Amino acid sequence: MRDPLAPPEVPRRLLMGSGPSNPEFRVLQALATSPLPADVPGFEQVLTDVTALCRSIFQASAESAALTVPGASRSGLEAAIASLVRPGDRVLVGVYGHFGELLCTLAARHGGTVERIDADWGQPVDPDTMVRRIRENPPRLAAIVHADTSTGVLQPLEDIGAACRATNTLLLVDVVLSLGGCEVNVADWNVNVAVAGLQKCLGGPPGLALLTASPSAQDAFTGGESAYLDLRRLAHTRDELSIPMVFAAHEAMRMVMNEGLAPRWQRHQRASDALRAGIEAIGLERFGNPRYHVPMITLVEVPDGMDEAGVRQQLLEQHGIEIMAAFGPLRGRVWRIGTMGTNACLPSVLALLGGLESVLHSRGFRWQPRGAAVDAAIAAWG
Ligand SMILES: Cc1ncc(COP(=O)(O)O)c(C=O)c1O
Repeated sequence: MRDPLAPPEVPRRLLMGSGPSNPEFRVLQALATSPLPADVPGFEQVLTDVTALCRSIFQASAESAALTVPGASRSGLEAAIASLVRPGDRVLVGVYGHFGELLCTLAARHGGTVERIDADWGQPVDPDTMVRRIRENPPRLAAIVHADTSTGVLQPLEDIGAACRATNTLLLVDVVLSLGGCEVNVADWNVNVAVAGLQKCLGGPPGLALLTASPSAQDAFTGGESAYLDLRRLAHTRDELSIPMVFAAHEAMRMVMNEGLAPRWQRHQRASDALRAGIEAIGLERFGNPRYHVPMITLVEVPDGMDEAGVRQQLLEQHGIEIMAAFGPLRGRVWRIGTMGTNACLPSVLALLGGLESVLHSRGFRWQPRGAAVDAAIAAWG
């Protein structure tokens, strides 16, 4: 039996799955801040900075509220839905993957009447169809994921946002994957509430949701059915704030803005271009419509006869690299490889490709020449 007084065994891992990604070292240092009381001198300024940084990263208007919700990103999504949906309200959800299903579940749990527009996995929702449905019969809330981690697809939002604005429909968007890794512009796209987490492209740990709410969304907040996830209450209370998490968020967002939004998006694009060049150089295929591929996760089709889980396990055990399986209809058919935050860089891409080449070769997959993936990635990085 294990001795409970022995130190825990925490393996070193390169987290290149669907998130969390490895946090930035400086963010982990900030996480070690003592849980001081919220009225400690200087903390109010940190909260003010967090609000300003949030508005900048989401590209939200100066009138928007920027809130933190303790818990996983889902707590932010649930708080948004609990605060916007009243029993019987119609909620139109665009679904093109697992996290669109989550929006449907949350809306239904909070009494909404859910109407769905589905797209095949690998494609975004057709914006024209969603626009038509919104214009014909405006719902209380339209909800959609910006970049669905289960399919690696990016959803165009501009036309959907414009239709919502024209019909006074509230628009909720999950930007958990996309924020910090590609353009998110909630002001220009007329997004009323956007929700993210720290653990993907922002370089932080899981445990805090970030959320922006436009003035009309704030006016529309109801008390909701949830005592805890009530955004009207969370906007004013300091009681549940985890001070170490707020410091971690502050540091992560400072690092994002010091790098600059556009350079950061370019870094994510460059890392995925390098990864994809390597994948293609050894004859692997990518899943989904390439026109809509997100830059922070790459779905790779498992070659015929290859043991999907066995490859992941070997990559983990021999190389200390984690990639992820897929959900639903893609389970067993694709690997999901993330290049998010601190791992959107050439060394992480090369470690992954080197490991993958070695594992695939040991399992009989062949291509010429050996090392082609690593070489192609270096050439693509430039
Ligand atoms: C697009 C998207 N939305 C929501 C979530 C849920 O995030 P969390 O696990 O922090 O609740 C995830 C997590 O992978 C995600 O990728």
